Amino acid sequence: MKAIIRTQYGSPDVLELVDIERPVPAKREVLVRVEAAGVDIGVWHLMTGLPTMARIALGARRPRLPGLGTELAGVVEGVGADVTRFRIGDSVFGAGRGAFAEYAIASEDKLASRPAGVTAQQAAASAVSGVTAVQALDAGRVAAGQRVLVLGASGGVGSFVVQIAKALGAHVTGVASTSKLESVRALGADEVIDYTTTDATDGSQRYDLIVDMGGNRPLAVLRRALGPRGRAVIVGGEDGGGRVLGGFQRSMFAGLASAVRRQRVVGLVSLTTTADLLRVGELLASGTMTSRVDGVYPLTQTADAIRRLEARHVRGKLVIDLGLGKLAEK
Ligand SMILES: NC(=O)c1ccc[n+]([C@@H]2O[C@H](COP(=O)([O-])OP(=O)(O)OC[C@H]3O[C@@H](n4cnc5c(N)ncnc54)[C@H](OP(=O)(O)O)[C@@H]3O)[C@@H](O)[C@H]2O)c1
Repeated sequence: MKAIIRTQYGSPDVLELVDIERPVPAKREVLVRVEAAGVDIGVWHLMTGLPTMARIALGARRPRLPGLGTELAGVVEGVGADVTRFRIGDSVFGAGRGAFAEYAIASEDKLASRPAGVTAQQAAASAVSGVTAVQALDAGRVAAGQRVLVLGASGGVGSFVVQIAKALGAHVTGVASTSKLESVRALGADEVIDYTTTDATDGSQRYDLIVDMGGNRPLAVLRRALGPRGRAVIVGGEDGGGRVLGGFQRSMFAGLASAVRRQRVVGLVSLTTTADLLRVGELLASGTMTSRVDGVYPLTQTADAIRRLEARHVRGKLVIDLGLGKLAEK
């Protein structure tokens, strides 16, 4: 099969398109013929090996697993001996290993059936980013009528957070850079703030909930913009977090910040589960939210897609469509 691999950490230049053997699923694993794969920022972390703390799990000097890509949608091609929920031919989506390939492996408990009417591209783009959004809003205990500030509203996770929070009846203020504000408005945000000109967390406005995907603001700055019983959920942020911890220190100290005040700061570690994939699938199928797919690439152009993500030119998500290359070959 064709697959994108890398044998060292680095820029998109380390990616190679190669022919390799199809992977074989273990007992509780599923072999998926990939139709579409999402390009989430996690892929960039896996490719670069940054922050370096992540190399404890990924491999100290070089990546232990050569394949790349997590979010996927496709058709079950094979199942391990102990798989009970899926059969060959089922349409599924979820989080797997080596999704930038014609076939990939996923644990049974990180997959769900893809609802009828939801395209493979839509499903793939939501399998990590959409699930993270759902879990962030759960952690934030979002409720109708609340004032919610979304830091990083134009991104992969934020574009889902805005839509779900709106659907739940919150008043949403989305923060992004100048050129992306219109796209955040189009997602349904009631108000938008340009972080390049305006400090959304200067304390002049107080929020019931802050969902933080961008900017790596110190915890004290987040608290300043929270109401007395407000909650902040730290999802992530790429800038200024440092090469070793990548901003994870904020999540480590979040509990401490909560101990001294009524405000709550929660560090999120999202995990794709079947239950939350089903919730995301329902939201997509009902039209309550959509995956904002800003570009679709064939497998051969995976490196270009990641370069565009790196350059921050994406509104929402990019998708690798395994059907595209095949169409071009015909
Ligand atoms: N905790 C978890 O389990 C988990 C799961 C998924 C992702 N993450 C992390 O969450 C973060 C967001 O992921 P993503 O996929 O949404 O990334 P993304 O697509 O790159 O989006 C980042 C967002 O942050 C915005 N941003 C950048 N600087 C900002 C600032 N100073 N103030 C406010 N917003 C700013 C960007 O706006 P512009 O594009 O307009 O600059 C963009 O909307 C990443 O760090 C990722 O690693 C964590």
